[in-house]
Amino acid sequence: MPITITPVQGDFVARVTGVDLHRPLDTADRDAIVRACDAYGVLVFPGQLLEKEELVAFGAAFGEVDTTLQKKLLNHVQNRLGLDTVTDISNIDAEGNVAGPEHWQTITTVGNRFWHSDGSYKHTPIRYSILNAVTAVERGGATQYADLRAAHDSLDDDTRAWIADKVGVFWSHNTRDWLKIPDSEAERSAFAKARWPLIRTHPGSGRKVLWCDSKVFAIENMPLPEGRALAHELIEHIGQREHVYSHHWQPGDLVMADNRCTVHRGRRFDHAERREMRRVETTDDSCSLGPA
Ligand code: OGA
Ligand code: MN
Repeated sequence: MPITITPVQGDFVARVTGVDLHRPLDTADRDAIVRACDAYGVLVFPGQLLEKEELVAFGAAFGEVDTTLQKKLLNHVQNRLGLDTVTDISNIDAEGNVAGPEHWQTITTVGNRFWHSDGSYKHTPIRYSILNAVTAVERGGATQYADLRAAHDSLDDDTRAWIADKVGVFWSHNTRDWLKIPDSEAERSAFAKARWPLIRTHPGSGRKVLWCDSKVFAIENMPLPEGRALAHELIEHIGQREHVYSHHWQPGDLVMADNRCTVHRGRRFDHAERREMRRVETTDDSCSLGPA
């Protein structure tokens, strides 16, 4: 069966079938996936429960697999999967049991509940984030994706003009700081703050995107409270339901998102249930305006 791309919500999100991700991708399928991701921002591949190594190989077909977050911070939480290339997005402890709500692994995933683009706080950010569900919970625990192209296009003219030349300062620990997670000074400064224009152009489609997420610590040349309030307003705008797709996970689902034109967030679930996903990220070739 040939690779088949089926749109889910207009030009946002598509389902991809007719390709077996356990095996190396041929060039035609790889190129079709890149084109589909450029067009739809998020791709859902059902029924693809991959081995860790297969997941890394799939990611590597689209660029260098990123290891910076894993090496700089996450390996110090725990490294159950034993690879710098695969992140453990789960509420499971090092022994394989469900980690309680007070466990550091569980607390670390709470930061994912705020709208964000993976790596927006890095000078060299993430292009694709690939999540593969090993187990899923009965209720809650969806991942929501929001379309930054649509969010740009639906801005009112005044706001679009007001932010046209503005630059956001993105900080890795902005949400963890807000959540009062007691990270060390070394962890809080592991990544220099990155500066990005609030309006960017998505290279794959040429479309403008509203580039703002929960990592925005400040907006340059604005008083800190005013800038933070503006960032909050822009995130509320992005998260309006007409821009959003909610993915309710089944074991084996694989979702590939283009962080250059989407944000995402995890939704609440009962921490007594087992939620286990694996993530591979690829490095983007764009660079921020430099450190703040
Ligand atoms: C991530 C993330 C959200 C979720 O893995 O990057 O933000 O639903 N996950 O687990
Ligand atoms: Mn994320």
